[in-house]
Amino acid sequence: MIGIGVVSFAIAAAIAVFIPWLPPPATREAGRIVFVYWFATWISLFVFAVVTAVLVYCLLKFRVKDDDLSDGPPVHGHTMLEIVWTTIPFILVSAISFVSAIVVAQNSHAGAHPLKIKVVGQQFAWQFTYPDGKTYTSMHLPVNTHVELSLTSKDVIHSFWVPEFNQKMDAVPGMISKIVITPDRIGNYDVICTELCGLGHSLMRSQAIVMTQADYDAWYKAGAPAAPAGGDPGLAVFNANNCGACHVFKAAGAVSKVGPSLDDLQAQADRAGQPLEDFARQSIVDPNGYLEPTYQAGLMPANYGTTIPSDQIDQLVQYLVKDAG
Ligand code: CUA
Repeated sequence: MIGIGVVSFAIAAAIAVFIPWLPPPATREAGRIVFVYWFATWISLFVFAVVTAVLVYCLLKFRVKDDDLSDGPPVHGHTMLEIVWTTIPFILVSAISFVSAIVVAQNSHAGAHPLKIKVVGQQFAWQFTYPDGKTYTSMHLPVNTHVELSLTSKDVIHSFWVPEFNQKMDAVPGMISKIVITPDRIGNYDVICTELCGLGHSLMRSQAIVMTQADYDAWYKAGAPAAPAGGDPGLAVFNANNCGACHVFKAAGAVSKVGPSLDDLQAQADRAGQPLEDFARQSIVDPNGYLEPTYQAGLMPANYGTTIPSDQIDQLVQYLVKDAG
């Protein structure tokens, strides 16, 4: 029986250890979650080995002969056995609960002076606003610093996920949800939306860039924000609403091909049979009014008419038609 247990433990442990199920953690919080993961996994492997050993042993040892059709002996329970198989799982499950509770408490501790970043999800892009009020489309973080993310959404429910950070948190309209991360490994990591939020869901990605404190300080001082002061106000609106997440527009350095290219606005307006400026405005506030061939209705969010103030829509329209035609 012990031999069967050892073999099944070894096979299951090899599958658990040698297949990389989780990416290497890049935050202290992720490291603690990985600890809980392995704590629960080793306990599970032990239980698996015991159950497999007893099961296989009983199947072999108590198998009836082919011609034996008699009833088995009546069994009325075994008090000692029941105490053992209740007590041991109780201790193991309680241990997992305590360890998890401690880790959850530690992971929600942001320290006295966390770096506070506001994260806004919208179809289909992320925005990160820093304490100085500047907004970026990717998230820069100093290594070994507590960071408190306050998440919300402009339209539907999104969910913030960086696989190497091991935590997920929903971004819900009208609500602020918080998550603490303390990056401890320098590198670039994908920020992924992990809540189905519309046709562009799979493209709703950004980057978390973890840098040394010195690099971060330099970036923070000199960083090119999404809305540069003194630039074209239309460009600021373009960047603040992440138009570049889906469209090509040379003037803004945008190269994404989810939606129609904004460099071809004049040709599209001609196809739609509208004056250029009217066409640009309608395409922002009522994107399903005219659809370029091969593009689906509903891909472009239809609520920009309410989420972008009308003076900013004017600036955006002027900016888009400036070089067209
Ligand atoms: Cu946002 Cu999926």
